[in-house]
Amino acid sequence: MQFSEVLKARVSTRDFTDRPVPAEAIGTIAEAALYAPVGMHRYDTLHLSVITDRDVLERIRRCAAAAAGDEKADPLHGAPALIVVSSSQEGTIAGLNVSCLVENMLLAATDAGLANLYVRGAIDAAAKDAALVKTMKVPEGFTPVASVAIGYAASPEAPRETPKNNATKIDFVQ
Ligand SMILES: Cc1cc2nc3c(=O)[nH]c(=O)nc-3n(C[C@H](O)[C@H](O)[C@H](O)COP(=O)(O)O)c2cc1C
Repeated sequence: MQFSEVLKARVSTRDFTDRPVPAEAIGTIAEAALYAPVGMHRYDTLHLSVITDRDVLERIRRCAAAAAGDEKADPLHGAPALIVVSSSQEGTIAGLNVSCLVENMLLAATDAGLANLYVRGAIDAAAKDAALVKTMKVPEGFTPVASVAIGYAASPEAPRETPKNNATKIDFVQ
C-alpha cells in the first residue's frame, strides 16, 4: 500500500474474529515499533510483550472487566493478538514514547491488511496486577502503558474518503 493509503485505511476495530494472526505478520508489526522515534534515544526504556496466549489475553480481559465493574466487558474485543508496550520511564515522556511505537504498529498492521485497535484502558488496569504483569514477561522496573490489539475485523471497513477528525483546527503561521 502507498503510505497515503495506509493513513486513510487505519481505523479502530472493536469486533475481531477469533482467526489467529500469522506469527510472521505479528513479527513484522512488532518490528515496525523499532523504527519509531524515541526521546533522547532512550530505546532501553521500552519493552514489547507480544501476546497470543489465549489464557493470558483472557486474564487481561478479566482484570480490565473487573476494574470497569462489568465482568462481561471485553476491552480487547476478542482480538487474538496483543502487543503491549511497557516503559521504565515515568510521566509524560513515557506516554509520548510509547505512543510513537504504538502508532507505527497500528500503521504496520493496517499495511498488512490486519485490523487493529489502540488499547490503553485495559492495560492501565492490567498494570496494577503484579502477577499478571510478570506473566506478560514485562521486565522488573517497567510498567505496561498501552497496547495494540491485532486480528481480523468481523466487518472490515472501507478506507475513509475524508478524515474522521474535522474538529482539530490547523493554523498556518507564515
Ligand atoms: C492514547 C489513546 C488511547 C486509546 N485507548 C483506547 C482504548 O483503551 N480503547 C479503545 O477502544 N480505543 C482506544 N483508543 C482509540 C480511539 O478511541 C480512536 O483512535 C478514536 O476514536 C478515533 O477513531 P479511529 O481510530 O477509528 O480513527 C485510544 C486512542 C489513543 C490515541
